[in-house]
Amino acid sequence: MEINKDIKQVLLTKEQIEERVREMGKEITAAYEGKELVVIILLTGAAWFAADLIRAINLPLRTDFMVASSYGNSTDSSGNVRVYLDIREDIAGKDVLLVDDIIDRGITFAAISNMLKEHRPLSLKTVALCDKCERRVNGLDADYVGFKVPDEFVVGYGLDFAGNYRNLPYIGILKPVVYARK
Ligand code: IMP
Ligand code: MG
Repeated sequence: MEINKDIKQVLLTKEQIEERVREMGKEITAAYEGKELVVIILLTGAAWFAADLIRAINLPLRTDFMVASSYGNSTDSSGNVRVYLDIREDIAGKDVLLVDDIIDRGITFAAISNMLKEHRPLSLKTVALCDKCERRVNGLDADYVGFKVPDEFVVGYGLDFAGNYRNLPYIGILKPVVYARK
């Protein structure tokens, strides 16, 4: 089975992603000069992006992971996010970056940011590789965004549909026929 055949259009090539991730790393390095970071990576989708991003950040940093997902119906903007795995790092008084693969309705970042703020970090900023800004329900913006993407379902470079396509080296728009057959 060839996975590329399910892609309607390549949105971001491997090279475009590599270049932008390098730039983001430089930008973050400059912004936090002289500081130490704790980078919190939202599993599963952000693992691929975050692995490349942290290697482009030239600062002392520690990493930790969270597993969370929003539940309830998809039009519900109330921010019901369930945490399946929480951080183990002590982030009190630390400069924290929260990393996800994509910001869509904004529910995940809003809810997780509120949870992390209860630990009293010195600062908390959000990083998303992709931003589907047309879909936002809460006006929230990520502090660092790799690419603005259209309101289409995208997969690859960690982004999945029903757990698949994370291994594509590029980001592409999934053919609608793929959802239809699920
Ligand atoms: P939000 O809470 O609505 O901002 O949704 C963010 C989460 O939805 C991300 O962590 C992704 O897991 C998922 N998501 C949203 N749009 C897409 C997409 O186009 N492809 C893959 N995952 C997506
Ligand atoms: Mg996710």
